[in-house]
Formats: sequence, C-alpha cells, structure tokens
Amino acid sequence: MRWLTIAAESDVGTRPLAVTADGVPLVVLRPGPGADPVVFADRCPHRLVPLSAATLDNGRLRCAYHGWEFDASGACVELPSQEGRPPPRASLGPGPRVRVADGMVAVAAEDLPAPDPSGLFTNEDPSLRHAWHPVGIAGQVPPTVMLAGREFEVARERTTERWGLLWLAPAEPLTGLFPDPDEDDAFVGAWLPPVRTPASAGVVADNFLDVAHFPFVHAGTFGAAEARLVDRYEVTTEDWGCRSVQEQWFDNPGDPGVAAGRRPVRQRRRATYVYRAPFQLMLRLEELDAGATKTILFFAQPESLTSTRVYTKMLLHGIGGVPDPAPEVVRAEVEFEERVLAEDLALQRRMRLTGLPLRPRDELHVRADLLGVHLRRILGDFRTATPSCPS
Ligand code: FES
Ligand SMILES: [Fe+2]
Repeated sequence: MRWLTIAAESDVGTRPLAVTADGVPLVVLRPGPGADPVVFADRCPHRLVPLSAATLDNGRLRCAYHGWEFDASGACVELPSQEGRPPPRASLGPGPRVRVADGMVAVAAEDLPAPDPSGLFTNEDPSLRHAWHPVGIAGQVPPTVMLAGREFEVARERTTERWGLLWLAPAEPLTGLFPDPDEDDAFVGAWLPPVRTPASAGVVADNFLDVAHFPFVHAGTFGAAEARLVDRYEVTTEDWGCRSVQEQWFDNPGDPGVAAGRRPVRQRRRATYVYRAPFQLMLRLEELDAGATKTILFFAQPESLTSTRVYTKMLLHGIGGVPDPAPEVVRAEVEFEERVLAEDLALQRRMRLTGLPLRPRDELHVRADLLGVHLRRILGDFRTATPSCPS
C-alpha cells in the first residue's frame, strides 16, 4: 500500500487542520485529546464548505455553516434545521485509512476521496454576458470595470440606472431588472459601503437565500436568538426567478412596544425572499406586531474567478415606532447590517470552490434548502438559454 504523509503527528490536535494528499484537500484532527487522528475529505456533504473551518465539540465535528454534526466515524448525528434522524447520505463516508509512524501521519493513497466537483457556475460563466450587472453606485463608477473576467469601458457599453446603481449588460440581457420600489414610498434608503468577497456571485446569492445558517454564522449578531429548526416553506416560480414568503419567530428587543410592556419580545415576522437571475436579490422583513419593515436589496457583481463585489441597500420604514427613522437610527441599522455581512464574508473566505455546483448530486439538499435548489435550477436554465453558451 502507498502511504502519503499529510502532517507531523505533533501538529494534529483537536482543532481541525486542512492538509492535502496528492492534491486532494483533507481535514485531519483528533476527536478528543490524545485520541488517534481521523481524516476526512475537507468538505461538508451539504454545501461543500471546508470542514477545516468546523469546530470540535464533545467529540463531534460541527460544520461552520449550518451546524451539521459528525461523529468520529463521519456519521452525521445532528442536522439542526430539521427534526428526526439525519439521512444516511448526510454522513461524511469513511475517511482514508490512517497510519501514524515515526512522528508522521499518513493516509492510504488508494482511499483518497473523489476530487471537488466540476461544472461549477463561476463568475466567468459565458452566459453572464447576457445579463444586467451592477458596476458601481451611480456617480462613483470608474471608467473601466471588471465583469465576468473581462475589463469593460463603461462609456462604450449598454448601461442603465436603477436603485441608485449603474448597471451594465455586455450583451442583450435575457431578463430585466427588479422594478422600481413604487410601493415603498414611505421608506428611508441607505447603502452599505460596497464590499468584495473571494466567493463566486452564485455562492454569495445562495448564502443570501439561505435560511438555516443564522444560528451558526450569525451567532455574534442576531443569530443566537434565531430558531434552528426551519419550518416547511414554499417557493413560487417567477420569470427567471422565484419568491418565497415565510413566517418566522424572532426576538425584537428594539421594539418600543416591548419596552412599554405592550408586547412580548418574542414576535412574528414575515420574510419575503425574491430572486432574479443571475444575481438580483431582495429580502423584505415585516415585523407583524411592531409594524416596522426592513427591505434589504442585495446585488452581486461577478468580477472575476476570485472576486465578487456586493452592493447592499436598506429601505427602512417604521423602525422604533416612527414612519421615517431618524438619521442615527438609519446609521445604527446600516452598521448592524455591515456586521452581519462581515460574518457571511468571513465564512466565504474559508470556502474553496470557485463557483456554485448546479448538479443536484454534488451536494446534499435538505428541506430547508428549497430556495437554494430553485437558485441552482434557474442558473442552470439561464446558462443553457443564452446564445453564447456552448451548452
Ligand atoms: S452544514 Fe456544512 S455546509 Fe451546511
Ligand atoms: Fe448570512
């Protein structure tokens, strides 16, 4: 048998360590202090996030994204978004055989897991030419911008303005932009400073539509009080997009009605997610008891294989019990949202794949992922419907 050295024995502890063997990414750790090392493919079967970003708790490896837990044999023993036993496919599968000798940890070459999937939807997918993309806040756009791996001279291209952003479509766009917010006549709007992430725009969109990651990724902001279980929800299909309306429980300590003793802190909220290909997203959060509405517009500019620029605008109404929130309230909301976004970006920086997998078999979709399943299907349709696509 051929053994491949992956780490010095002394480097392997209870903290998951990312290593490679013959170029295959692996994670190695000890499931308890002094225990023998175990090795797995360095990807969670759910969304393929590296398990080297996971934490070990009580002998179980907890994935950083949605908190699925795996025991030392790789079996998935906890899937927080749903009740009941996790499906067998949620398990990691047996890792390669491990040998510890002469102070080194090695794995059996013949047991190496399959490489990462191919056919990903990346930021340089040819179909992306046939879409509107945000390229900057209107009035602040440089003469040249990056889009789908190419540089474009803005003055020579087809452009339009919407939501205070400049949009560019390199070729005839397949689909239009979200409509203007006519029905939102009573809101105060504010942009977050645009930010860059190394994750692909498809992964960024998937993250935005994801309803099961709050308690894990956003534990430092609002996530600790969020329910881990995700109620069954429905998704309706729209032209090159989809929509989902969900009712959720949440804690609302900022509601003046709570301070005045008129309402409990635990309240109901209606969350409406809207997606349109390739990367237009919106989330409207209506606080059903307190009457406040927050709309988050979220647009991604696929710059290159390793860069996505993210634009987030908040539309606020009725926060703190007044129709138009004061400037300091708006500032506080924007700062809070920046912290929330930073939590998502920190996880995205740990991701390794250069795009979003579109084939259902490459990931393990569970009930809470219905929006993500629609996103993948719509992007797949988008890719094959565009004329420049080799298909
Ligand atoms: S639990 Fe690992 S990616 Fe979702
Ligand atoms: Fe998030």
